[in-house]
Amino acid sequence: MLIITIDGPAGAGKSTVAQRLARRLNLLYLDTGAMYRAVALQALREKIDPTDELALDRLCKKISISFAEDPRGQRVFLQGEDVTERIREPEVGWMASAVSLKRPVREAMVALQRGMASQGGLVAEGRDTGTVVFPRAEAKFFLVADPRERALRRFRELKARGKEAFLEEVEGEVRKRDDQDSSRDLAPLKPAEDAYRIDSTGLSPEEVVEKMLKILGKTSLSR
Ligand code: DC
Repeated sequence: MLIITIDGPAGAGKSTVAQRLARRLNLLYLDTGAMYRAVALQALREKIDPTDELALDRLCKKISISFAEDPRGQRVFLQGEDVTERIREPEVGWMASAVSLKRPVREAMVALQRGMASQGGLVAEGRDTGTVVFPRAEAKFFLVADPRERALRRFRELKARGKEAFLEEVEGEVRKRDDQDSSRDLAPLKPAEDAYRIDSTGLSPEEVVEKMLKILGKTSLSR
């Protein structure tokens, strides 16, 4: 089973690149961040305090998260409802970063993610896919980009969806979330020892995908 992982901070371009790479290699695309965002949205709906591990554990035991492809791209479903756009709200991103610190949430999501790999090869994208979820993946990438450019990408994404946003504010939030994701005890954001580091600053998603395909061509995948 071919598994490729792409980890990195917010706004490094992981989602676009992972989706394109998956399409090129005819693999499934697994957006692990979307799963933490779905848990966060459910926690917000149920007014659960993100530090309440018992409540989060209960929530994760009954949660239903699934993905489906449609012409617009991958859709995310929470308890059967399409929440693809809703989970991209900054409020949900921040809550996702908070609930993902908690062990019951991580354990439940990692189990689901590994289960998805039993359906076929995939390109997984997130913070810990190469270090924790799939430590034996065939190829691992760690995607980084200049913080200003990452903030600019998030800012443009929000604007494209008709949201009010201020660049300085978005940059502050991106940095804060990176700090929280990198400094936590459980599965912190960090490159796997055997990950290929790619800096996407100034590169288009297609250029990053080409770089990855070139690296994959040199690894055991091509033998
Ligand atoms: O990639 P994203 O912005 O959609 O991720 C949202 C949050 O989910 C991120 O701030 C941290 C958390 N996350 C995680 O802890 N582990 C992952 N593998 C993916 C995301």
